Amino acid sequence: MLNISNLSKTYLPEKKEALKNIHLQIQKGEFTALLGQNGAGKTTLINILAGNVLKTAGMVTIGGYNLDTHALETKRIIGIVPQETGYDSTFPVYETLKKQSGYFGMRHNGATIDELLEALYLTEKRNSNIRELSGGMKKRFLIAKALVHRPKILVLDEPTAGVDIEMRHTLYDFLLRLHQEGTTIILTTHYIEEAEKLCDRVVIIDSGRIIADEPKTQLMENFSREVTVEFQFDFELELADMAFLNMYHPQIEEKTRLQLRVPKKDLPKVVHMIAQKNMAFVDLGIEKPKLEDIYLSLIHR
Ligand SMILES: Nc1ncnc2c1ncn2[C@@H]1O[C@H](COP(=O)(O)OP(=O)(O)OP(=O)(O)O)[C@@H](O)[C@H]1O
Ligand SMILES: [Mg+2]
Repeated sequence: MLNISNLSKTYLPEKKEALKNIHLQIQKGEFTALLGQNGAGKTTLINILAGNVLKTAGMVTIGGYNLDTHALETKRIIGIVPQETGYDSTFPVYETLKKQSGYFGMRHNGATIDELLEALYLTEKRNSNIRELSGGMKKRFLIAKALVHRPKILVLDEPTAGVDIEMRHTLYDFLLRLHQEGTTIILTTHYIEEAEKLCDRVVIIDSGRIIADEPKTQLMENFSREVTVEFQFDFELELADMAFLNMYHPQIEEKTRLQLRVPKKDLPKVVHMIAQKNMAFVDLGIEKPKLEDIYLSLIHR
């Protein structure tokens, strides 16, 4: 569906290397999270796909069409929701979406536009000027604008930044439905729980390089070989007495809770070791790492 190879981007004149030899293949039907810190290169990559930024090297094909030679065809296949909401216009919402449809030769697109406005809670604003929309509404408007031509791939650059919590959850449902209906989706976000909830593949980009690209379940499985275990006691603990557990990095929280980092296979052994010391615990909790922990440990490696 999307094929990126040897892609590099150097911004002149400072010679800032924003992307360094990126390889990425996206299959039809995938829902991919593109994660990375501020300045990692996410927007640069998306702007190249959108045809707004010229790449320095490499090849990009979208739906089989080469971006260099078939720019118009690629635009039909992909819909892009930009990060910037600076889009300023005195035109009304509906009229703008109608005009956008016109670019794609879809003059009788009224039903699709109505549907999108409804799904994105913008029906009430259909005749408002875009300039008069709030920041969160503008984001939703930009999603509608990216979708009027019913693209097969939707790329969203931080679609939920600045969107209120309730509307964010509405957007999640909207994106999940779109994905179920067959749209291939790529999403960047700084809310990692969003990637955890929505996506099936996680790509992490760091200083212009891809440092992780795995199915989400695989990534989480690889990292959950070690879990955090917490034992609650009804007496106060001394760290000095926990030396027999040193290999599991003991920590004491609020005097009575013992935290250990334990490889899953060692769990029975650890419980046994504690029992042998006649330390009766009153509660036990096991926590698997969240995608957020995995993300942080990867980018700090
Ligand atoms: N037009 C430009 N001219 C020069 N440098 C640029 C330009 N656009 C981006 N950069 C630089 O390229 C690097 C990548 O920026 P990019 O916007 O792609 O990051 P990002 O991953 O989208 O970050 P964020 O999470 O903050 O949106 C940064 O160092 C940035 O300063
Ligand atoms: Mg960005």
